[in-house]
Amino acid sequence: MDLQSTVLRQLKNRREGFSLEQPFYIDQDYFKLDMETIWYRDWLFIGHDCEIPKAGNYFTVQIGDYPVVVVRGKDGVIRAFHNTCRHRGHRVCTKESGASAKLVCPYHQWTYDLDGSLVFARQMGEDFDKAQFGMKHVACESVGGYIFVCLAEEPSDFAPVRATIEPYMKPHRLWEAKVAHKNTIIEKGNWKLVWENNRECYHCAGNHPELCRTYPEAPTATGVQGAKDDPFISEHWARCEGAGLPSEFTMDPSGQFRVARMPLIQDAESYTMDGKRAVKRPLSDDVPISHIGTMLLFHYPTTWNHMLGDHAISFRVLPISAEETAVTTTWLVHKDAVEGVDYNVEDLTHVWNMTNDQDRAIVEENAFGIRSPAYEPGPYSADHEGGVMQFVEWYSNFMINRLQGDKARLSAVA
Ligand code: FES
Ligand SMILES: [Fe+2]
Repeated sequence: MDLQSTVLRQLKNRREGFSLEQPFYIDQDYFKLDMETIWYRDWLFIGHDCEIPKAGNYFTVQIGDYPVVVVRGKDGVIRAFHNTCRHRGHRVCTKESGASAKLVCPYHQWTYDLDGSLVFARQMGEDFDKAQFGMKHVACESVGGYIFVCLAEEPSDFAPVRATIEPYMKPHRLWEAKVAHKNTIIEKGNWKLVWENNRECYHCAGNHPELCRTYPEAPTATGVQGAKDDPFISEHWARCEGAGLPSEFTMDPSGQFRVARMPLIQDAESYTMDGKRAVKRPLSDDVPISHIGTMLLFHYPTTWNHMLGDHAISFRVLPISAEETAVTTTWLVHKDAVEGVDYNVEDLTHVWNMTNDQDRAIVEENAFGIRSPAYEPGPYSADHEGGVMQFVEWYSNFMINRLQGDKARLSAVA
């Protein structure tokens, strides 16, 4: 039986409410199938507009086998390209980020405009048609200060994502924010383990003393059931919505993305050790009230986020291999917030740096145990791990639909 059929059979027969079978977390071929079926075909959050504020600013990112560069053009438009030179394939931009009036390949200096068109290629002969050798475009969308790309030749419609998440993001004005800090950690575990760990707070009380000072571990905050019947939360929604901040829990029918504005514990305003603001300057001039809690956004498979009154934090998940995942955390503050005056990086980042490291250790130990031949799928807690069940269900349904679609297409061709 080929791999696709095996995976299909395993997903269709999977025991609902239980974790996945071992190869989904450790096998290289399963990993390759994840990449081809999800990562190379879906919209992926990769960075922020404010990381490339000026024309010629760029950053690079590696998505599985694909190096990609994201550039702001002279017209202010953000574009993404396959970062592989149309001459002989050298990476055009080799640094993590930079600024350049044109993109010049270091190998033989083929030179591309910021819109990707080839403008200079030395001594290629009279007949050489530069128009044929522009950098290849990657689909790119910017929403609320977040840049998404899609590697598919024919990307799915981004409009439903935009329609749902943009109103929630807009009041925070993140397109004009400033990156106060950014770091990347490598977690030695499959990308799905990183997500499974993120989608519940069943582990929080026992592992995250710093985060638990301000973030509620109640499943209503992390989970997927909504929280309309919780008076504390519905009062919070009413107050925020009254101030022009969309807040109610909204999940896309596909289960791929969700937004909700959740209160923090008691009087907390930010993820600090005392719950007080980490940044004196509010994040956005468009938010007229304090104590807005955290606007939670996730979009599978790359990102979860917190947008608070004083700062915002984005998390970007990128798989490296079956058993390695890079998690990039970015702290955003108001563009005019001054380091050393309005905030200091240590206080701003402490809680989530600790939390990230605790989560890394958890994911790595989880992966360790799953490698055992004695591992078998175990039951999730219906009370606390609804979010994980939802993630696994999304993954499973998504893979089944696509693998079946591919099979149908293949047999139609045959
Ligand atoms: S490979 Fe880029 S200029 Fe030759
Ligand atoms: Fe955690």
